[in-house]
Parts: sequence; structure tokens; C-alpha cells
Amino acid sequence: MSEGLTQAAYIVAALFFILSLAGLSKQESARTGNYFGIAGMAIALIATIFGPDAQGIAWIIVAMVIGGGIGIYYAKRVEMTEMPELVAVLHSFVGLAAVLVGYNSFIDPPAVNLANPAEIHAAHVIHMVEVFLGVFIGAVTFTGSIVAFGKLRGIISSSALNIPHKHKWNLAAILVSTALMIYFVKADGSMFALIVMTLIAFAFGCHLVASIGGADMPVVVSMLNSYSGWAAAAAGFMLANDLLIVTGALVGSSGAILSYIMCKAMNRSFISVIAGGFGQTVSVSSDGEEEGEHREVSAEDVAEMLKDSRSVIITPGYGMAVAQAQYPVHEITEKLRAKGIDVRFGIHPVAGRLPGHMNVLLAEAKVPYDIVLEMDEINEDFPETDTVLVIGANDTVNPAAMEDPNSPIAGMPVLEVWNAKNVIVFKRSMNTGYAGVQNPLFFKENTAMLFGDAKASVDAISKAI
Ligand code: TAP
Repeated sequence: MSEGLTQAAYIVAALFFILSLAGLSKQESARTGNYFGIAGMAIALIATIFGPDAQGIAWIIVAMVIGGGIGIYYAKRVEMTEMPELVAVLHSFVGLAAVLVGYNSFIDPPAVNLANPAEIHAAHVIHMVEVFLGVFIGAVTFTGSIVAFGKLRGIISSSALNIPHKHKWNLAAILVSTALMIYFVKADGSMFALIVMTLIAFAFGCHLVASIGGADMPVVVSMLNSYSGWAAAAAGFMLANDLLIVTGALVGSSGAILSYIMCKAMNRSFISVIAGGFGQTVSVSSDGEEEGEHREVSAEDVAEMLKDSRSVIITPGYGMAVAQAQYPVHEITEKLRAKGIDVRFGIHPVAGRLPGHMNVLLAEAKVPYDIVLEMDEINEDFPETDTVLVIGANDTVNPAAMEDPNSPIAGMPVLEVWNAKNVIVFKRSMNTGYAGVQNPLFFKENTAMLFGDAKASVDAISKAI
């Protein structure tokens, strides 16, 4: 494939990626957005593999078949609730790739075709900076993503690591790395400086993510998504590959925008989260001890209560995903709507374990989009609501976020379900949610607990209706 044709293919692929992002911004067009992304990536791969710079095509194809096979195997097996973990692992690969590309590009720099010696020198300095920054961003992304994976999997504690003077350590890591970069460029490349910086960046990435508490993990996942984009863009600069630069920048900036939106939704400072919890105070009431008496109901009682209601709001959470209760939830929604009862859904921005988790599940079960509302759209309607069904949600409906300034989730906007006439909480025990915080909602007078697997409970209600 000629250079011109490859560049033309790259432009077409970049356009497909932009169309893909546009499609993914709405539920109705998300599937088409995915197809655009697949088409763009297929064009990009073909143009790169058969482009003028590629060597050893047979080896590339063998590696792609092995890597693709492993990818397909895991993607098919992974549960929806494990998606953030998979995403964290994939981000770590992008980070590691950027580190390896950086070392490769330093050991075997690309040929420069400039006639002017001053320009050759400038191009060389720029290349050195690209290598250094690319390896730094890649190394932070690599270890940060591994720690994020550990926290999401439960291998590492989800509470924030608070080593003494943690922000000073972060600042020192950045200052020493900057000094090493200046030395690296002035010394016309130094393997020693590159290795020392890589080790510092590995530790920095670990510490940055370990310092962020469980409740802020959604932001961390999208932040690492953004870092992986910048790592890919840095690799694109080192390889002089325009498409990789464009794609990396698209991922980097969309991840940064998503992180910002999530920070706003959770009332967190963006700077504080990306700087590893900078400026946050340590919370003191993070225990999960019970604080009162709770009341229990049966599925039959809930069915009666629903039939007597005029308006119902369902607020799903992670437990609905675990139980795969979205199908019976759709079933009872249809049955109640057929009786003229107004049923709507209230979705918290970080319900579940990944952005849009609940929307995906409800769409899968064919719940109409127009009755699925965002938290801000529905929060004022709870006082006029007869019954709220909290299905497998916990942190996202916790009044402590508004009432207890010392709570680890203090300040996070939540679904104000307790303002409704009756609240039914579907869960299996009195255990806490992801943030490990006890929920005073369970002990309110208008709240009753329906214990058991959410799917079994909703099935039983559906039968009784
Ligand atoms: P959580 O606070 O995690 O609570 C889920 C509840 O579901 C648990 O209390 C659990 O109680 C219950 N549950 C689990 N399996 C169940 C089953 N089979 N049947 C019935 N109930 C079941 O959920 P949430 O309200 O959706 O909040 C999400 C949390 O995850 C937030 O803290 C958020 O910050 C964090 N997070 C979110 C994301 C994104 S991007 N959404 C990413 C990472 C972390 P039992 O064990 O008693 O059943």
C-alpha cells in the first residue's frame, strides 16, 4: 500500500472514530457508534499492517491472531459487573505498550531526513522529550491501572491509602522526574535517567490510585481511560503515526471530559481526584456498624402496596446487575403500567460499576427509554411518589451523603428516595455497599427491607401482581 493511500485510509479511520464517539453519546445510536468504531479500527489496522513502514507482516498477523484469540475468549466470558476490571486491565496494556514503544524508540531512533543541522538537532531534542514523556505517562497508566484492577476486584482494600506526607511524595516524584528529563535531554539521552524515571513513575502510578477512596473509583476508571489515551498519543508521536496521535487524543480528551462530568455528578473536585485525593480530609465515620431497628416485608405485601400506588419509582443499583433482575423488573413495570400506574426509573450517575451500567441493563431488558430518568430529572418528584423500589442500590440512595459531613461519601448527591411515602429496599443482608458505609435509610420509618436475591424477589412480586 502506497504512503498516500495509507494516509487517506488514516483520515477515513479518524472520521469513523469521531462518528463512533458521536454515536456513543446517545443510547439510541450507541450500537451504530460501536459499528463505526469497529469499521474505523479495521481500516486503521489494514492500512498500518500493509502500509509502507511495516515489516515482518507474518509475525504481526501471528501476534494478532494470538492476542485477538485471548481477547475474544475473555470478552465473551466476562460478566457485565466485571467490565470495569477488564477495562482497567486493558488500560494497563496501553500504558505498558507506551513504555515499550518509548524504550524501543530511544534504543533505535527513527531516521531524520532534514538537510539543515539545526533542524536535525531540534527534531532530535523533540524526539527525546517525546520518549521521556511517553514512558512517564505510560508507566503511570500501567501501574495505576493494575492498582485500580486490584481495588475493583477486591484484592486491594478499597479505602484510600493515607501514607504520611502523601502529597509531598507526589510533588517530589514530579520534580525529580522533571529534573531527570532535563538531564536526559542535555546528556543527549541517558539510559540511566530513563530507567530511574520509569521506576519513579511506576511507584507514582501505584500511589496516585491507591490514595483514592472506593467511593471515587468511578472517576479513577475514567481518569485512567484518559491517561491511556494520552499514553497512546505519546506513542503516536514517537512512531510518527498521525492516526495514533489523533486516536489517542480522542480517547484522552473524551476520558478527561467523562471524568469531569462524573466529578461534577459526585460533587468531587476534579483536581483533587486526578492528584490522588489532593486536599481531601480523612473521613472518620466510615464504619459499617448498624444503627437502629429495621422492618421487613414479604413479596406479597409489596405486590399489594404497588397495586395501591398511583406513582412508583424504581432506583436500581449494582445488586440488580449481580442478580440479573432487569428482566423481571421490566415485567412488573409493564404489569403496573397496564393497570394505569405511573412507573419511572431514577438512575444515579455512578450506580453499578461502570458509567451507564443501569441504562445498558434496562435497555437490554427493553424498558422504554422515556421512563428512564437521570437523578437530577427525578429527585424533586420523590415527595409525590407513593412507592420507591430500591433494587440492589445502596451508596447511591444513602442519606448519610447529605446528613453526615464526616461520611466518606459526604457531599455526593444521591437519589432522595426517603422523601417518598414508602420505600422498599431489595437486598440480601444488612451489608454495606461499595463504599463500606452504613445506610441510615434502612432504619427510617417509611422504609421496609425485602431480603433475598433481587431477581427472586422481583419474580415473586410479579407472580403476586
Ligand atoms: P452499592 O452501593 O455497591 O450496593 C449494592 C448493593 O446490592 C449491596 O448493598 C448488596 O447488598 C446488594 N446486592 C448485591 N447482590 C445482590 C443480589 N444478588 N440481590 C440483591 N441485592 C444484592 O451499589 P450502588 O448503589 O449501585 O452504588 C455504586 C457504588 O459503586 C458507588 O459507591 C460507586 O461510587 C461505586 N462504583 C461505581 C462505578 C461506576 S462508574 N458506576 C465504578 C466503580 C465503583 P447485599 O450484599 O446485602 O445483598
